[in-house]
Amino acid sequence: MKIGVYGGSFDPVHNGHIAMIRSALKSGFIDCVIVIPSVRNSFKLYTNKLPPPYRFYMMKETVEGMGLKNVFVSDIEYGIDGVSYTSVVLAKLTSDEYIIPFLTDNGIKRKKAEEHHEFFWIMGSDTLGTFENWYKPGEILNYASLLAAVRPGDDTDVEKAKASIKKNLGGKVEIFRLDGIECSSSQITSSGDYSQVPEPTLEFIKRHALYTENTKLEGVSDEARKQFFEAAVWMYRYLGGKRLLHTLNVGYLSAHLAGLYGCDKDKALIAGALHDCAKELPIEQQLEMAKRYSGDLFTEKKIIHSSAGATFVKEDLGIEDKDILDAICYHTTGRGNMTVLEKIVYLADKIEPARNYMDLGPIRETAEHDLDEAVRMTADAVRNKFKSQGREMHPVTIQMMKDLGMI
Ligand SMILES: [Fe+2]
Ligand SMILES: [Fe+2]
Repeated sequence: MKIGVYGGSFDPVHNGHIAMIRSALKSGFIDCVIVIPSVRNSFKLYTNKLPPPYRFYMMKETVEGMGLKNVFVSDIEYGIDGVSYTSVVLAKLTSDEYIIPFLTDNGIKRKKAEEHHEFFWIMGSDTLGTFENWYKPGEILNYASLLAAVRPGDDTDVEKAKASIKKNLGGKVEIFRLDGIECSSSQITSSGDYSQVPEPTLEFIKRHALYTENTKLEGVSDEARKQFFEAAVWMYRYLGGKRLLHTLNVGYLSAHLAGLYGCDKDKALIAGALHDCAKELPIEQQLEMAKRYSGDLFTEKKIIHSSAGATFVKEDLGIEDKDILDAICYHTTGRGNMTVLEKIVYLADKIEPARNYMDLGPIRETAEHDLDEAVRMTADAVRNKFKSQGREMHPVTIQMMKDLGMI
């Protein structure tokens, strides 16, 4: 099988990317495309607008939503420590040990020895000229041929670059014709003109309120931004897509609310983003981790992920900040004497943009100017839900309500 490999930031996905995939498939050089949204791109390390999981799931939903055939979105870079150089990604992808889900799902044997696979690295012709300056270009060519897109009438330097790569590195370069409009992700986000963004991508962006003021993370330190990106990559291992994006959305919203209420934005971003990290761990593990943070305070299955999360980030990520750990621990229940940070994460969890379990408009609007009132409204909705389900509220929640004058 001839496999095209297309890497990029996809921040956001646009029609130019789709045209690239479609044209490459039409070229006849390849049978399928593996799209790899970058995790730690050497050119844009931590400078992408969105952390990796958003870009991965955005591409996945786009490919599925557009019904693109023979296109597979791969998370292979999540298994690579450090910078995901093209040569490193290709070494892993082409190794006999790595299982390419797309191939195995389609009943195609994974090992090169069993069935011959040929790999092609898909790229724009504009990057062909600089290819020899990439990290270990010779190694890249050991794993894959280059498959470069050329726009009609835009092929002046292509033959020169092709000849130079052949002469200096001995690699194979194939050229294919690119049909479609030229666009750029950064131009889309800076102009706010999303007309070249496919419909499923746009839906994804709207659902999670991406590329907005909140996701710019103004006032957040570079260190916290980096920690946020790395936390997102770390959580990819432990959470399914929907929950992972929820918990990251809470990070963005918490940072925004922190800005409004004079709270530390860095802490709010990290506490919010990590609040649900333990939720999909085996329940016994959650119980044991919860115990280590808060003794026997929380034992109910639905609640323990909160204090388990505090232990999890402390032990796996080395986060020692008590403010952050407590905000994670009490995000489900609240408690008496809550800090502003705890209120923010508690609230953001219930109203982040992708939440739609009830009409959240009034609480979202209140959250912009009166934190305590928004927390009260949220707690009241929770109280009603518990009542209708005949459930008892946790004593720490009752204490929070007393503090807020609700009881
Ligand atoms: Fe939670
Ligand atoms: Fe949550």
